[in-house]
Amino acid sequence: MHLTWGGVDCLELAEKFGTPLYVYDTGIIKARCREIRDTFIARWPGSSAHYAAKAFMSRAIVRVIDAEGLGLDVVSGGELYTALSADFPPERIEFNGNAKSREEIDFAVRSGVGRIIVDHPDELAIIAECAKNYGRVQKVLLRVTPGVDAHTHSHIATGQTGSKFGFPLEGAILRDTIRAAKAVKALDVAGLHFHVGSQLFDPQDHISAVDRITALMRDLKAEGFITRELNLGGGFGAVVNPSMSPVKLSGFMNPIMSRLTERCREFGLETPQAIIEPGRWIVSEAGITLYRVENIKELPKVTYIAVNGGMSDNPRFALYQAEYEAVCVSAPDAPAYDRDGGTHVSIVGKCCESGDILIDNAKISRLEAGDIIALYNSGAYTFSMSSRYNCLPRAAVVFVEGGKARVVVERESYEDLVRGQSV
Ligand code: LLP
Repeated sequence: MHLTWGGVDCLELAEKFGTPLYVYDTGIIKARCREIRDTFIARWPGSSAHYAAKAFMSRAIVRVIDAEGLGLDVVSGGELYTALSADFPPERIEFNGNAKSREEIDFAVRSGVGRIIVDHPDELAIIAECAKNYGRVQKVLLRVTPGVDAHTHSHIATGQTGSKFGFPLEGAILRDTIRAAKAVKALDVAGLHFHVGSQLFDPQDHISAVDRITALMRDLKAEGFITRELNLGGGFGAVVNPSMSPVKLSGFMNPIMSRLTERCREFGLETPQAIIEPGRWIVSEAGITLYRVENIKELPKVTYIAVNGGMSDNPRFALYQAEYEAVCVSAPDAPAYDRDGGTHVSIVGKCCESGDILIDNAKISRLEAGDIIALYNSGAYTFSMSSRYNCLPRAAVVFVEGGKARVVVERESYEDLVRGQSV
């Protein structure tokens, strides 16, 4: 029995479309969107969700997210352009991120994005200028740094005191900015935003942030500012393989929303409309990556299984020591092979450095050159973080569902590598 994904034989996918190949089961993505609608949006009136496109961005995913009725969170002119090029309604887009350029802000305001999440006072002045130019009132949220050390890899924690993101809770900058913004008719300062970090498995960090932000909301109310909207960020985790139970969104959102409601009641505040912006949780487990084994090197202490991709299509082990599991697609249930009891098996890529590892200490059946392997849970921050390191053309992306497959991003060619270059 071969591994199938979205009802399609993975060996056939590899033969037909080549490898490395990113494969997404859109049925899983849609089920996640449905879970968001059923357990969050339906339950909390006025709430909404924006898919954080940075996790996996392409025109085809934009169409899926639109059809599922969610909003879209973008962080650059390029992401905004991709979304608009696939006809995503601008009013359901929020423009996020730090260090936005004047050109990006102008593009966002001109396009009519629903919200801009402000990360610096200078941005606000530019937004106001653009909104006046285009005769619009631009809704904005101010991103605050909640001062919470999220339980995750330090590179993907964002809410700690001293973070490069957001306005610090302490000091005058936030209050001065709110005061200045309220005086500008072209701006509608609807509320606040925070994001504690990514790949989290329990709601405690969000709850700690809610505790701090609600105290801030109480103080701001006393100064005449009402927080009508509160964006709670994303960060919900993804599991390593399909036999594990996925994180339930309600496991995060029920306790977070209960705390938010409770604290608002305690402080005599209206509960603000809640927004979330998950990325990984929507796409990570829907995605697998197929590779061909090029060769196997059996050294005394380690066996290297070298595949035809690597850190160029998935830099996540190199950057965060991310954990993955893989199977041989022609024998997904075969037991893990151990050459002589305790041999370390490393699945490595073809890039020219020793850190180019996909799985260190892999548990996988015996493989041979030419076998196709599937790396589970590789739908988030892989294609979107891919590079052309060593001049490896970027891999193709295929969507599968109900036994059908279609290419949504073509494989790059050697010609693509040199396009735009002069000698
Ligand atoms: N909102 C904001 C403001 C964010 O910065 C992020 C992620 C998200 C939402 C979505 O977080 P998610 O739901 O996907 O956890 N490249 C790293 C992850 C970086 C996350 C950056 N911000 C990785 O491969 O793990």
